Amino acid sequence: MKRVAVIPGDGIGKEVMDAAMLILERLEMPFEYVWLEAGDEAEKKYGKPLPDETLEEVRKSDAVLFGAAGETAADVIVRLRQELNTFANIRPARTFRGVESIHSDVNMVIVRENTECLYKGLEFEVADGVTEAVRVITREASERIVRYAFELAKREGRKRVTALHKANVMKKTCGLFKQVFYEVAGEYEGIEANDYYIDAACMYMAMRPQMFDVIVTTNMFGDIVSDLAAGVVGGLGLAPSANIGERHAIFEPVHGAAFDIAGKGIANPTAMILTACMMLRHFGYLSEAERVERAVEKVIAEGRTTPDLGGSLKTMEMAEEIAKLL
Ligand code: NAI
Ligand code: MG
Repeated sequence: MKRVAVIPGDGIGKEVMDAAMLILERLEMPFEYVWLEAGDEAEKKYGKPLPDETLEEVRKSDAVLFGAAGETAADVIVRLRQELNTFANIRPARTFRGVESIHSDVNMVIVRENTECLYKGLEFEVADGVTEAVRVITREASERIVRYAFELAKREGRKRVTALHKANVMKKTCGLFKQVFYEVAGEYEGIEANDYYIDAACMYMAMRPQMFDVIVTTNMFGDIVSDLAAGVVGGLGLAPSANIGERHAIFEPVHGAAFDIAGKGIANPTAMILTACMMLRHFGYLSEAERVERAVEKVIAEGRTTPDLGGSLKTMEMAEEIAKLL
């Protein structure tokens, strides 16, 4: 029995969480759900956006299913990622038939290192008008993230893992990352390994995103390229993500609390439902995840969607359409 901490949070977080829970309940997964509070409303109630009780319960859980927080997002989700030491940020980007986007037939997963690089916060003002930042890349963290990417490729039957870096300029840091990448790649026969410079990769991403399958990269490049990929395939209402650690995992849609549409019941539940699918895959329930994904594809292709994708359904109506196909 897996213990899942459910944190709907603020705004549309609550609405899309109800939709995802409808799907999980329909699948009758052997999960124990623990509902917890965090975010703007929790701060008003308890004086803290991430109440102690929530953090305590989260530490005892196998996974966190997170909706969205509002203005307190940094104090909630960024803090949770740190507290739970989730070293891998996973962002799939794929196109859907029936959704307008620049490209079709895109299906990639970006695996981003989540703990080091330029985001370590090692920034200094060394003299008046002179600032420096330290970029930390270690063999240990690089190996861990590269291995994660190859294991993901193996698990999902993907054919290629591509490393993105800038080893021609950052010879030491990116050089180490690239070297570790090919060392680990050697252990995975049958999965192709290649690499590109990050700048060239951005051009390919815009022009020929179909060439990417699994991408693995360092923290800052991963941050930027995953937003680029999300834009290439059609945006926020469809984008799920996961943060994975040795013991803990947090699953969250990329979007936020969307206060502009909150309370109207028109938020697109797809990102949250696909996020729940990532949790299912993480726990090894591949066929269940696949069933939900096929249902999502069908419902979107047939235009049975929320207004953001041109349909006229409410959040729960779209979820119900998906649930009916399971
Ligand atoms: P947002 O992601 O909440 O919304 C951006 C735009 O996309 C809005 O126009 C919204 O209506 C639309 N949108 C987002 N998700 C949608 C969905 N599922 N269906 C249909 N339309 C959708 O980002 P924004 O507006 O910058 O932030 C709003 C609040 O959310 C802020 O308080 C911010 O701090 C917070 N936030 C929280 C995040 C988190 O908890 N991980 C991430 C991003 C923002
Ligand atoms: Mg970002």
